[in-house]
Amino acid sequence: MEKEVVLSGIRPTGFLHLGNYFGAMRNYVRMQDEFNCYFFVANWHSLTTHPDTKELKNSVHRVIAENVACGLDPDKVALYVQSDVPEIAELYLYLNMMAYKGELEKTVTFKEKVRLQPDNVNAGLLTYPVLQAADILIHRAVKVPVGKDQEQHLEMARNYAERFNHRYGDVLPLPYAFNYGGELVKILSLDGVGKMSKSENQMNTLYLADEDESIRKKIMKAKTDQGPSEPHSVKPDYIENLFTLMKLVSTPDTVQKFEDDFNNSSTGNCIIRYGDMKKQLAEDMIRFIQPIRAKAADIQHNHELLQKIIRQGADKARASASETLKLVRAAVGMDY
Ligand code: TRP
Repeated sequence: MEKEVVLSGIRPTGFLHLGNYFGAMRNYVRMQDEFNCYFFVANWHSLTTHPDTKELKNSVHRVIAENVACGLDPDKVALYVQSDVPEIAELYLYLNMMAYKGELEKTVTFKEKVRLQPDNVNAGLLTYPVLQAADILIHRAVKVPVGKDQEQHLEMARNYAERFNHRYGDVLPLPYAFNYGGELVKILSLDGVGKMSKSENQMNTLYLADEDESIRKKIMKAKTDQGPSEPHSVKPDYIENLFTLMKLVSTPDTVQKFEDDFNNSSTGNCIIRYGDMKKQLAEDMIRFIQPIRAKAADIQHNHELLQKIIRQGADKARASASETLKLVRAAVGMDY
């Protein structure tokens, strides 16, 4: 049986962080053996906010390098840059005819952007979900590993596919959000306010590119308190988050020791010392991040290798995309 097609896009804004790793990349790596996978850097989408394009180029290269460093294998998956696949732009054009202005204006992410950049409400921003639909439908992907915030975009992609099929004939399968059963791991910012972020709140986010000293510093100043006053207290969010991080990078024995310290003591008071816990966490975190950081830097600075990876991805993506586009053109009657 043919493997199902999985696809996801990564916006090249800011540095990848632990939340991205444990929430997304780790799952991509797991998917690459089970599915026919397409992962790409969404650089056209980035243009909607008018970034500095030289910086954008660096970010695109870094994202590719970091994903390979995290274990995505360019021989197993198609890892590519969106703008290398012009077929996406043509499908975007056809899908734009299936998208109504009123619906686009009601999209949550669009309304948010209008609030954030009132002086740059361009048509690309309005049709962001149409481009995203084209990204997905161009490979006839059915499984899309994304977080909750992308559900509305996926629903829109299904609507456009359905309208297209209804008008022109059955060509595009309907895509659905997909993650391995259960909740995605959520990693809070180290001050306990919100999630780790690609570009904001950098002192409270652990990036895959962080140097050892910076990892130490950030973890040592993570928010804690004077500790629980009785055994089996409920942990506040920011303490729970430290335990979450520890479970991801430390040994089970280490986690158990601090769980025990949180709950027990001979005198009835809890004896956990957050300073000790953070010291341990920092060293384990460094051991985890260091090889990824080193490998990503190697790839990023190896221009030839990076180019090879990007070309290889583009070739695979274009082969699949042009097959879909042939069907789409024939369906629309644009096959003269
Ligand atoms: N909009 C997605 C985000 O903000 C990125 C993205 C672009 C995407 N195209 C996609 C995700 C296609 C999944 C499928 O994260």
